[in-house]
Amino acid sequence: MDYFPLFVKLKNQPCLVVGAGEVAARKIEVLGKAGARITVIAEQLGPSVAALQSALNLTLIQKRFSADDVLGMRLVISATNNRATNELVAAAAENHRIPVNVVDNPDLCSFIFPAIVDRSPLIAAISSGGASPVLARILRAKIESLIPAAYGRLAQFAEEFRLLVKQRIKQPSQRRIFWENMLHGHVAELVFTGKIQEAELELKSQLLLAEQATTKGEVYLIGAGPGDPDLLTFRALRLMQQADVIVYDRLVSDGILEMARRDAEKIYVGKQRSNHSLPQESINELLANLALSGKRVARLKGGDPFIFGRGGEEIETLMQQGIPFQVVPGITAASGCATYAGIPLTHRDHAQSCTFVTGHLKDGSINLNWKQLAAPNQTIVIYMGLVGLYTICQALIEHGCPPDHPIAIIQQGTTQNQRVITGTLTDMPRLAEQADIKPPTLIIVGTVVSLHEKLHWFQSGQPPHS
Ligand SMILES: C[S@@+](CC[C@H](N)C(=O)[O-])C[C@H]1O[C@@H](n2cnc3c(N)ncnc32)[C@H](O)[C@@H]1O
Repeated sequence: MDYFPLFVKLKNQPCLVVGAGEVAARKIEVLGKAGARITVIAEQLGPSVAALQSALNLTLIQKRFSADDVLGMRLVISATNNRATNELVAAAAENHRIPVNVVDNPDLCSFIFPAIVDRSPLIAAISSGGASPVLARILRAKIESLIPAAYGRLAQFAEEFRLLVKQRIKQPSQRRIFWENMLHGHVAELVFTGKIQEAELELKSQLLLAEQATTKGEVYLIGAGPGDPDLLTFRALRLMQQADVIVYDRLVSDGILEMARRDAEKIYVGKQRSNHSLPQESINELLANLALSGKRVARLKGGDPFIFGRGGEEIETLMQQGIPFQVVPGITAASGCATYAGIPLTHRDHAQSCTFVTGHLKDGSINLNWKQLAAPNQTIVIYMGLVGLYTICQALIEHGCPPDHPIAIIQQGTTQNQRVITGTLTDMPRLAEQADIKPPTLIIVGTVVSLHEKLHWFQSGQPPHS
């Protein structure tokens, strides 16, 4: 982080703007919105600044800048097109440790202006740290379109009830849940449509209910997809951002975890082949206990929770104990990896069906219906198959697959580290060893693999095309 984000109170604080052209006028307007007491020093006054004088009660001084002008100021902005003056202003402010911004001269600035989404009292500030102001503005436009204009009204409404809610709901975690329900749901809609009195009544009746309610959390069993954070569903993201605790597996990428609520407690229950950090039964218990203590728990699982994910076992325990839960499907590795490798799982000329199997059983053996899997015109996707790769290739050949039948291995699919190697059932064990392929890997068997050469589109090491 090159710049520390901070909101500064400038109401009635003396601020100096050097320069009085169009650029200065825009900065003056922003300072004016924050209620600053603004002095403008410039040799020539532009019409836009002059027009702001009475509305913002500006002190306009027509003269050349001198170093003493910064004395007593809280903030200094230099918006002239004269490099020498800008340097003088920056040096004078620095001498007195006064934050200074020189417009379009990042090297002379001790602070920079963010792009702002203003829904006062709610403000979102976006900065690229000077790297690309245009990118910051594009992001601002996106946020602008996401946040209804009435959000400011909602924030004011929440402020009015803040103290009352604090007095009535003592526990911070319960209070947070209450506010999240209010600000997401019916009350927020009433405020947006201007029905403030109805919103007040609704909030008060919800407050009564919340006071009487016993503390019981819930569990969100969330499919986090195969790795690329962009493949999360909206619902997954929303629930991750409201959860108090995140319980996650080894296959959940750092990029995904970063999208969870910042102050949520994060518990790693990782799982590696033959090296379960926490046995499944303990994970089930952990989820139940966290929820019973009133927490909202996001249980993040790689891919889809119901595909080789043991998600069913986790919710069974919750169900037995009467704990509320919801399940969010995720993009399973087969779908994500095949797509990012440019291998369609079905294709009119190649495969009319697709079967997902696991290449790893509880006791370490592989016990699959080889005869069925070796039949033509289908695609087989094998999860957890790397260790048994040689056995899998041999068994398929023995049961009727041609020795040159295509096979692909995708390592860390959909991520910036994705690797795809293709070959035949005969040479793949050797190729995988030579390429030093490491888990997590997904195996795809079938003639659809031959399409990879033509259809691959995703380059690892750079983000996918948008
Ligand atoms: C325990 S299973 C979990 C599957 C997950 N529930 C899903 O729907 O994708 C873990 C296996 O999924 C596969 N897998 C998951 N993510 C992967 C990825 N990004 N790249 C390749 N294989 C992956 C690997 O075979 C890994 O051993």
